[in-house]
This record gives sequence, structure tokens and C-alpha cells, in this order.
Amino acid sequence: QPARAVDLVEEESGAPGEEQRRWEEARLGAASLKFGARDAASQEPKYQLVLEEEETIEFVRATQLQGDEEPSAPPTPTQAQQKESIQAVRRSLPVFPFREELLAAIANHQVLIIEGETGSGKTTQIPQYLFEEGYTKKGMKIACTQPRRVAAMSVAARVAREMGVKLGNEVGYSIRFEDCTSERTVLRYMTDGMLLREFLSEPDLASYSVVMVDEAHERSLHTDILFGLIKDVARFRPELKVLVASATLDTARFSTFFDDAPVFRIPGRRFPVDIFYTKAPEADYLEACVVSVLQIHVTQPPGDILVFLTGQEEIEAACEMLQDRCRRLGSKIRELLVLPIYANLPSDMQARIFQPTPPGARKVVVATNIAETSLTIEGIIYVLDPGFCKQKSYNPRTGMESLTVTPCSKASANQRAGRAGRVAAGKCFRLYTAWAYQHELEETTVPEIQRTSLGNVVLLLKSLGIHDLMHFDFLDPPPYETLLLALEQLYALGALNHLGELTTSGRKMAELPVDPMLSKMILASEKYSCSEEILTVAAMLSVNNSIFYRPKDKVVHADNARVNFFLPGGDHLVLLNVYTQWAESGYSSQWCYENFVQFRSMRRARDVREQLEGLLERVEVGLSSCQGDYIRVRKAITAGYFYHTARLTRSGYRTVKQQQTVFIHPNSSLFEEQPRWLLYHELVLTTKEFMRQVLEIESSWLLEVAPHYYKAKELEDPHAKKMPKKIGKTREELG
Ligand code: CDP
Ligand code: MG
Repeated sequence: QPARAVDLVEEESGAPGEEQRRWEEARLGAASLKFGARDAASQEPKYQLVLEEEETIEFVRATQLQGDEEPSAPPTPTQAQQKESIQAVRRSLPVFPFREELLAAIANHQVLIIEGETGSGKTTQIPQYLFEEGYTKKGMKIACTQPRRVAAMSVAARVAREMGVKLGNEVGYSIRFEDCTSERTVLRYMTDGMLLREFLSEPDLASYSVVMVDEAHERSLHTDILFGLIKDVARFRPELKVLVASATLDTARFSTFFDDAPVFRIPGRRFPVDIFYTKAPEADYLEACVVSVLQIHVTQPPGDILVFLTGQEEIEAACEMLQDRCRRLGSKIRELLVLPIYANLPSDMQARIFQPTPPGARKVVVATNIAETSLTIEGIIYVLDPGFCKQKSYNPRTGMESLTVTPCSKASANQRAGRAGRVAAGKCFRLYTAWAYQHELEETTVPEIQRTSLGNVVLLLKSLGIHDLMHFDFLDPPPYETLLLALEQLYALGALNHLGELTTSGRKMAELPVDPMLSKMILASEKYSCSEEILTVAAMLSVNNSIFYRPKDKVVHADNARVNFFLPGGDHLVLLNVYTQWAESGYSSQWCYENFVQFRSMRRARDVREQLEGLLERVEVGLSSCQGDYIRVRKAITAGYFYHTARLTRSGYRTVKQQQTVFIHPNSSLFEEQPRWLLYHELVLTTKEFMRQVLEIESSWLLEVAPHYYKAKELEDPHAKKMPKKIGKTREELG
């Protein structure tokens, strides 16, 4: 029993300090979510992976995901991969035998729905077949959309390699703020949002011969809008080919939507997957993940592991924990390669997950939902599924959008499990009970269009000349209130007039590939003569909370470094400060290292800033600097974000309009200060509704920037009048 030799008991490192606790609570709050319900004692044989008594998680084998292949002796994936040439791999994909049939179907029908198991070759092969077949003659292009940036980049890189061309030549990708295409690029992988923006410059997509809407089952907001627009374009461009590719989910609905377009099925090829559940709910899924990975590693035959977590912070934490324990176990266990994958991971790091595992070692890929259907990693035999994903939700009543960790759907859980059966019979370990699966998971994920704010999309549709949004051809319509609120907000931002028509300012806002509030902030920087600073703030805000870096063994140093950037006024100015100092250092990576700042995030911010700067002329904003007068910067930010305001009341912060209780995120520079009025960039719900990136404002500014939205009366200071209580008392006394 090699397992017995393993010592996994953690030394207690003393009670964590208050600061540490707050941090953990905000950062990992979601990790302590759990499926509350108890297992209704399944009768199935018990399956247990033993490491150490205090630290094992008991799983029970419950069901099996049926496979199409017999589970007999498959080649080990690494051997298979190393032996075969890239062309042989292409020929081995499930789609390959259907190449001719598929091309014939495409030739015969304008719209074709293509259904196939993840990994069958839809994304990488079909555009190549079309290329080989001559669909890109006369300079015509093929577009293939992806809901995720990482997928667009990685798939394009793979296809370029298969075709033996340089990425950015014949094959390229285009994602927001990053364009890796050229005049020569005929196969264009792009995010669905980018194709949507193509409509602005080319409303009939005249330069495209084929549009493939890929990963359609994900039902991302932009994909859903594309459906409506493309269906319309297809009517007056009969030569345009439309392909809708999807994992094996929901294809009948797509067919119905596209006037009963035929469905082409690529038969599956998957080995059976045994599914295990935990016996009891796990309190902390992150910890449980780490323990389970090690359990699998020491007790299970060779094969790589895929773990599904919800986001970058969690993934980094899990990878750190895993590496830490492996280091401590040293030579007691075989080598375990720990590889993260999430949207902001730089591409060289992303590429590592596709490299074959060295003999004798095992690879564990810790991924977001991206690995559910958009990316296929060879060699995965074990899937570890805590059952959560990060999901946007939107409350049209309060106008609050938040990103929360929620249980994933059954459809999602089964897609995840399926990832284990691609190269051999696999196993999927679910970190929740069979009871929870049955009773607590929704059947499918609600389409994004029904749980997000629509400001962006409405602005885009308006600029495409689509006025009657209520009658737009939606696959699933958004809630009426959400649409209405989007119109109201755009009106408040000055993008629409009272008739709902696009204003000059609205037209400019649509030119900028950012949220309406952010575009408004950029436009307002003209008035406050601080566009230089505002561009920096906008760029820093769009790199997504990953500026500071906080290694576990240098927490104190990292926190000090962060505090050194604090400026009175709030987090937006802190971001500005970090960027300015970095620019003064000559954009140095050494400077980043010394100040616990993530170099790659900064580099990205610089790219984004350059791109936004290039767009300024188009929206008629001149370059200007506030020369240290930060009030102007703060006012310009307020001009865009006056919707996101909160004030301090006796019972903490409340949003100004809706009176919702909210909290300052503990790593905000204003956490200790608690200013009376503030504005926030976004809300994130973990243990509480946290405001991330907060700025101190004055209530009078709200009247200055949005007189049509705020009335002086509602901005009066509640602390100044103690009336209501006294009146209450008097009444009581009067009896
Ligand atoms: O789109 P679909 O899920 O049907 O499959 P695909 O993404 O075209 O993947 C086909 C094959 O290409 C899989 O076997 C992947 O392992 C491989 N692939 C890869 O090696 N590297 C990538 N970046 C993408 C795909
Ligand atoms: Mg695909």
C-alpha cells in the first residue's frame, strides 16, 4: 500500500490574523459554499481512496456515463500522440470520415446545424475543410466564433500549426483589444463579440463566405444576438453559408430557429466514464479538491487529471496548495505537473497544457469552464468536479449585476464528466453527493441573455439601425424589464434621446469596444480635460483585478507594497498611480517584481490603453492631462458610473437609488476610511455583496454629472436629520 507512506497532515500554523481572515473571506468565501443536503444513502458499493485517515474523502460509485466504445485496452495517450504525425492525428478525429458528406451537406444547404461530441474536430477541422474546398477563393473569409477569448487564441494557434502557416497569416484570431490577423488572413477565429462588432463596419458581412457560430450550446449573450442578425443577413445573401456548431445539446432548438435547417450529426466516440459522488457534502471544495487530486495521484493508474474550478483566484490558490503539498511530500510520490488554465493566462502558459505528459509523471490541469467544451486536452482520464461555476446574474429591478459562484447545471456536470472518456475509459469524481446532483442542480444553464444587463448590446443594435428591440428575433427573449432598464440607462447616460433614438454621443459610445458606462467616462474626460488619466484608468479596470500579486510566503511584503500605492480618493487613483509609476520605470518587469505587481497584467493594460488611445480621435476626444488635479479625474469617472453609487448609513453602505446593502471589498484602499459617498466599478458576491474598485465622491458631483437622474432631495445627508426617530417616539408618548 504505497498510500500508507504518505503523510498529509498539515501542521497548524497558528490562528490566522484578522487581516488574513478578512482577505480569505472575501477571496475564497465562495469556497466554503456547499451543497447543504445529506446523501440519501445510496446502496452502491463503496469506493474509497485512502491517503491518510484524517484527510480522505469518501466517494461512492453511482452511475456510469455510457460510452460508444468498448473500454478495452486503449493506447496510452502520450504514446499515441508521440507516434503519430499531426496529419495522422487529423485523420483520426471522429469528423474525418464524414468530411465529404459534410461538405456536400454544406454545399446543399444554406444553414446547417452541426452536432458532435467535444473533441470530435468541429472547431479545428471544419474551417480547414472549407478552406481546402475553396470557400476562401477571391479573397473571401471564413469566420468561426468562440464565446471565449482563450479558445479563439488556442484553436487558431493549433490550426495554424496543422496547416503549417504562421499564426496571423492565413489563420488568425481576433479578440477584443488583440488582433492577430492580417490582409492574408482567410480563416478567422474570433470571439462572438468581435463578429458582432464586424456588423458595425460591414452590416451584410460581405467579405465572408462562411460564418460558423461555434459552441452554440453555450448560449453566450453575443452568440444569441448573432443568431438573430445572421438569420437576417442570410435572407438577402443566399450565397452566404451559415454553420451552427454545438456539443450534443439542444440542437433541435437551433434547427427550429433557423427555419428547420438540417442537423448533421457527427457520431460520438467516447469511452464509458464511471461517476463517483462523495458520501457526505464537503464544506470547503477547494480543500477537498486538493486532497482528492492527491488521492487520485497516489491510488489510481496513469492518466491525467482535469479539475474544474470557477476562476483565476481559485485556480491559483489551488495550484499553489497542490504544489506546496507535492513539495513537502517530495520523492514519496511520483511527479505531479500542476498546470492552470483560465482566461487571463498568458498564451505561452496556456500552450503548456497541450504538451504531452512526460513518462512516469502525471499532469493535473486546473481549469475554468473553458475546458468543459471549448478546449480538449488529450490524455485526461480523471475528472474532478466540485460542481460550481462562476455565473453572472442580473437583477433588473435593482439594476445590479453580480458575479457569483453557483452550482453548475446537470448538463454542465455531464459535459465535464464526458471529458474523462476521450482516450480511454475514465472516472469522474464529483465533490458532492448523488442526492445533491438529483435534487439541487438545475437541468440546464439559463442562457446568458436572461441573466445579464443589456446596455452594451442594446447600444450596438441601435447603432445597427435596429430600433424595435421588443420584436427582435431572439432565440430566447431577454426579460422585458431588463430590456427596459437598458433603454433607461442608455437614456440616463445620454446615449439615447427621449424617443429612444441614438444621439451623437451614443454613436460615439458605440464606437468604443467597452461597456457604455466606461465609454461614457472616456467621453466625459474631454469635458474635464483629463483623457490621459482616464485612458489609464479604463485600461487598468479592464485587466480585471489581477494587478497585484500576493504570494503566500510574502503576504506581509505584498500587502505593504500595495498600501504604498494608495492615494487619497480611492482605488481608481491607486490604479492610475501604479500605471504611472510603472510607465516612469520604463515599463520595467523588474519594477513589477519588486512591487508585487503582475507584469503581464500591466503589459496587457498597456496594450489596451494604446488601442483605446487610437480610438480617441474617432470619438472626438483630444489628449489632455489633469496635471495632478485628481478631482477632475474623479468627476469624469462619476460621469460614467453615477449608476453605481453607495452612501454610508448607520447600518453600513446602501446603494443610493435602490437601498441595497453592500460592502467595501477588504483589499480596497478605502476599506478603513469608509467615506460617506462612493462609487464602485462592480459588485461581486462571495460571502457578501462586495463593491470592487471604489472611489470616494461628493454627492454634489452627482447633480453636476447627472442632473436628470438625481434630485437634490435624495442626496441630502441622512445623518443631518434625526427627525424620523423623534417623531416616532413622540407619537408613542402621545399614545
Ligand atoms: O470542436 P471540437 O470540440 O469538436 O474539437 P476540436 O476543438 O476541433 O478538437 C479536435 C482535436 O484537436 C482534439 O483532439 C484536440 O485535442 C486537438 N486540439 C489540440 O491539440 N490543441 C488545441 N489547441 C485544440 C485542439
Ligand atoms: Mg469546439
